[in-house]
Amino acid sequence: MSQYRLPMISNLDKTPWKSTVNGKSFVHSIDSNSILLDVLRDQVGTLGVKRGCDMGTCGCCAVLIDGVPKLSCLTLAQEVQETDITTVEGLSEGHHLHPIQETFAECGGSQCGFCTPGFLVVISALLNNNPSPDDDEIKNAIEGNLCRCTGYQQIVDSVRSASKILTSGNENLNGTEPLSNPNPGFVK
Ligand code: FES
Ligand code: FES
Repeated sequence: MSQYRLPMISNLDKTPWKSTVNGKSFVHSIDSNSILLDVLRDQVGTLGVKRGCDMGTCGCCAVLIDGVPKLSCLTLAQEVQETDITTVEGLSEGHHLHPIQETFAECGGSQCGFCTPGFLVVISALLNNNPSPDDDEIKNAIEGNLCRCTGYQQIVDSVRSASKILTSGNENLNGTEPLSNPNPGFVK
């Protein structure tokens, strides 16, 4: 390596990091200033957490910390030691998608998809706490998530449809056939 090139390897002391991610316990050795986004992508391996702006303005990197949406690009991993972290990979139950994942696909809430993981985790938190949000509550919940593709109407429609699923039980959007995934565990 050239002596005129800045070294990219940190020489900070390593520290143990322990948390639960999507229901599994992880212990990793991290730098004391490691950003949660990097730990999740590079060490835990949850590549569904997307790096968009890397400065807190797009929402692509959103995850749930103990059920509350946070921007992982602005969160020190050290701050969330011993927490319960949920990424987009943790929204489904086995092979069954969360209702908002199903309705994103059905309503066109996802197009290029880069913003989608952030929307999904934020909306899942909204629906967990309020299965019947009105339009203002939906828009308020997703105001920190940017999408350049959908124009947002399909995303709002997706939330409305997911809400119908969660509040009407085991029905699909036509109200006729049983869903493969009623996801009762997502309704408080
Ligand atoms: S990557 Fe975190 S807000 Fe954009
Ligand atoms: S689907 Fe492309 S940015 Fe949202």
